[in-house]
Amino acid sequence: MSSNPCLASVVAEIADEVGRMTERGDVARYIPELAHVDPRQFGMVVVDADGRVFAAGDSDTPFSIQSISKVFTLTMALGMIGDRLWQRVGREPSGNPFNSIVQLELERGVPRNPFINAGAIAVTDVIVASHQPREAIGEILRFLQSLAADRRIVIDKTVADSEKRTGFRNTALANYMKSFGVIERPVEFTLGVYFHQCAIAMSCRQLATAARYLAFGGADPATGRAVVTSERARRINALMLTCGHYDGSGDFAYKVGLPGKSGVGGGIIAVAPNTASIAVWSPGLDRAGNSLLGQFALERLVKRTGWSIF
Ligand code: DON
Repeated sequence: MSSNPCLASVVAEIADEVGRMTERGDVARYIPELAHVDPRQFGMVVVDADGRVFAAGDSDTPFSIQSISKVFTLTMALGMIGDRLWQRVGREPSGNPFNSIVQLELERGVPRNPFINAGAIAVTDVIVASHQPREAIGEILRFLQSLAADRRIVIDKTVADSEKRTGFRNTALANYMKSFGVIERPVEFTLGVYFHQCAIAMSCRQLATAARYLAFGGADPATGRAVVTSERARRINALMLTCGHYDGSGDFAYKVGLPGKSGVGGGIIAVAPNTASIAVWSPGLDRAGNSLLGQFALERLVKRTGWSIF
């Protein structure tokens, strides 16, 4: 699959190229705390099968992972209740913005997929199931710390509070799903955990490390530690490919051709199966809420390496 590129120079050249771009997109403003982030930042990290790390730019700067957290909570919820999860969440692209409510009424409160906000809130509800919200948040954070092999990962409380104060749409989505019985726990418990998981701050290095299990058949090749079965990793990757960029998922598949998940903090994780785990970050977003230069960097990377799965 790989044309054996010199990854160190490929990554450095992409960072240079991104640095020269003038169109950088707009930072997310609907979460007030994210509106202050400097849009000139860019980071990129590639971790290969031997655990070698190729980094460029602001690769160690923590940023708000936002919807990228949904991949990890999906992994946890599948570990807890397995395929029963699919009674509460679908597996189809929505073709609508990530915070849309329109399909919920027609589809009896069952969200289209686990990556739109409604779907992710339903997934988080599964994690909250037998826990107090504080314990559930702790469990999500510890899962990420162990995947990234880095205990320094923390939740940015200011971002969580900012989102809680202004999260009227998410509150509407959660209440609406509750009316259909799709949310089982008190809405404020589930939303509290959801806002905190989105406010976890991680760097590209930490995210690319954490996502290795998805790139390498469910296990971290460096340690051999299995996180999920290879079948489950394959299925999570399928969902990232079809739904990971919301109504920009088709375009991402067309241009990049890798399973990936974006967040409105400007981060994207992507996996080149059996080859590499990748994280990019640039806070400016396109109209679908996906990092403009993050997508550009990934497009350049697959062009140089031949890593597209197509
Ligand atoms: O719930 C929200 O709207 C945010 N915490 C997460 C949305 C998000 O990251 C969408 N991604 N591109």
